[in-house]
Amino acid sequence: MPAVGDRFIVTGGSQLNGTVGVYGAKNAVLKQMVAMLLAAGTHRLSNVPGILDVKLMTKVLEHAGATCRFEGHELEVDVPDELNPEAPLELVRAMRASIIVLGPLLARCGSARVAFPGGDDLGARPIDMHLDGLRRLGATFELDHGVLHGRIDGRLRGATINLDFPSVGATENVMLGSVMAEGQTRITNAAREPEIQDLALQLTKMGAKVEGAGTAEITIDGVERLDPAEHRVVPDRLAAGTFTVAAAITAGRVKVVDCVPDHLRMELRKLEAAGCEIERGDDWVEILGPDRATAVDFATLPYPGFHTDMHPQLVALLAVADGTSIITENLYDARFKYAGELARMGADIGTEWQHAVISGVDRLSGCPVVAPDIRAGASLVLAGLVAEGVTTVSEIHHIDRGYEDFEGRLVALGANVNRVTGES
Ligand code: UD1
Repeated sequence: MPAVGDRFIVTGGSQLNGTVGVYGAKNAVLKQMVAMLLAAGTHRLSNVPGILDVKLMTKVLEHAGATCRFEGHELEVDVPDELNPEAPLELVRAMRASIIVLGPLLARCGSARVAFPGGDDLGARPIDMHLDGLRRLGATFELDHGVLHGRIDGRLRGATINLDFPSVGATENVMLGSVMAEGQTRITNAAREPEIQDLALQLTKMGAKVEGAGTAEITIDGVERLDPAEHRVVPDRLAAGTFTVAAAITAGRVKVVDCVPDHLRMELRKLEAAGCEIERGDDWVEILGPDRATAVDFATLPYPGFHTDMHPQLVALLAVADGTSIITENLYDARFKYAGELARMGADIGTEWQHAVISGVDRLSGCPVVAPDIRAGASLVLAGLVAEGVTTVSEIHHIDRGYEDFEGRLVALGANVNRVTGES
């Protein structure tokens, strides 16, 4: 398992070629693990990625009373009849996505005590829409000494919830809270991400009645009880997308398999605009990088727009592209923190509020950099692949949160990346 203090030593100059596969999506599996709390019994998920966040979510489930076994990308979870409806600060702080337990714990136990998450590396990240949605279903909340105490009177009750913004987490929290509510719930302006469709699929296998997931209006008819189920997690479009950029930035040819290219439509379109040649099938995509990419502009938006979690990786490519690119980040107010690290490698990036202007340079040069979050960490490794000399990326536990054996899979494609463990 990765340790805090690990770092990657990336020696630039290798072209990446070959085939790489991806496992299930981090942003799907974490919610599907929590969904298991809705039904007592033994649940199974397959195609589960061996990433740090899955391990952290296992701790959240175990704290609630579940027993988890993870082996060979299969996760089996025994959920008891009685749950401990609590997610303490150390778990919520280690992984913000833990707050998604609120809906299921309220539905199952009638109460929940969840540490209130603060901001994180990407900015303030409020949870007002999660709470408003659950309030509309009949929950009440009190914040006491940093802990959110949620309660319901009897059962949650279906309601119409119009989200101010198509928040992924708020859509999921309300879905998870309403599948066992009394009556019908309608979520309008819902997030349309593939991971939400996949959560709906799992919930349907458990006996829930969910219609419209993947559109802006989701209708849920509450049922009295759910049963355990088996489900295969949808492939990780962000891991797949990261490997496509690895091919693009090294002028290589990489085939990414076991993925869904249709979930990366906008991102692949921007790579084509940057000069990549792309071929795709239902579950694979092959990308041939140009000798030098050309500048492209993009703005991040909720799905099916350009994914904010693919933004830093594409910026690494544009940092060495021909011309000037303008990026607008619409989801997070602090996502450009890594730009300073890329600048240390020689990138020319000016940032102002939610915009970045990237003037492509002829060369980057390796130096020590710090990974500030999962995707920015991946972006720094990608930049290191084309930088002259050696780039040392530290704080790579962030990368381990979202990528299974990132370095091993890059090395299999021809990259020169080594993990140095601990303080050595
Ligand atoms: C999820 C993903 C994250 C991805 C993001 C957007 C997981 C574990 N994480 O995060 O990787 O970057 O979707 O695709 O799935 N907001 C509010 N109030 C709320 C909720 C959200 O203001 O109650 C704001 C957020 O601060 C952010 C925006 O809405 O600016 C989008 O957030 P949201 O879609 O909720 O993202 P997450 O579910 O947190």
